[in-house]
Amino acid sequence: MRSILRIDSSARSGTSAENRFGSHSRRLTDRFVARWRSHCPDDPIVSRDVGASPPKPVSGDWIHAAFTPAKDREAWMGEALAESDELVDELLSADIIVAGVPMYNFGMPAQFKAYIDNIVRVGRTFGFDRSRGDVPYWPLVPEGKTLVILSARGDYDYGPGRRLAHMNHVEPGVETPFAYIGITDVHRIAIEYDEFADQRLRASIATAEEAVDKLVRKLARPEAHATAA
Ligand SMILES: Cc1cc2nc3c(=O)[nH]c(=O)nc-3n(C[C@H](O)[C@H](O)[C@H](O)COP(=O)(O)O)c2cc1C
Repeated sequence: MRSILRIDSSARSGTSAENRFGSHSRRLTDRFVARWRSHCPDDPIVSRDVGASPPKPVSGDWIHAAFTPAKDREAWMGEALAESDELVDELLSADIIVAGVPMYNFGMPAQFKAYIDNIVRVGRTFGFDRSRGDVPYWPLVPEGKTLVILSARGDYDYGPGRRLAHMNHVEPGVETPFAYIGITDVHRIAIEYDEFADQRLRASIATAEEAVDKLVRKLARPEAHATAA
């Protein structure tokens, strides 16, 4: 059995499968979860909608509290970190993190950045010790987790090796902090051409949905589980 954490960060509610103004990235996270349920009906699935309810951005109090050793924290520091603790607990309980992350101005939405800033936590998801010398930090998230990034963009050709790849800061911007905390098994699928709303968009959706189905079949296989464990 594996636990799935679904995170959505589009500011658009609903999926583009349901309505014309709905979100493509939510369409893909929805599909991933539906397909997973059909393969592994008993696996727990938790949903976190940071698009609808963004975590608070980190504040001066948050930083002060996070860098104070847990045993020395005052009551207000616990409060400053409560939301972050909840998000970290949720992440640590998951085996597969399915993140819907659209492209906003070439990077991830601010809502998803606020999520990342809350889960990259000293003492919880990464260690930090100045006495270690040149590399004072190390990942603390246990091995074996998988990250699936399901993106959507208006323009096209942002994939690896393509015309606009150098302007795509979504997947690299997500993958780097996740690798920093120890999550390095990553899969990416994206819908492109949203702004053209023509046959190319429809073809891109079909290709992305097929890729989601294929990825679920691969990850849901019991032998894939055995390898990851
Ligand atoms: C604020 C904002 C910024 C955007 N910036 C870009 C961009 O830099 N490049 C691009 O190709 N599309 C951009 N788009 C288009 C979105 O990536 C596209 O509509 C995508 O489908 C949004 O994801 P969603 O369908 O899950 O809501 C932007 C859209 C919004 C709302």
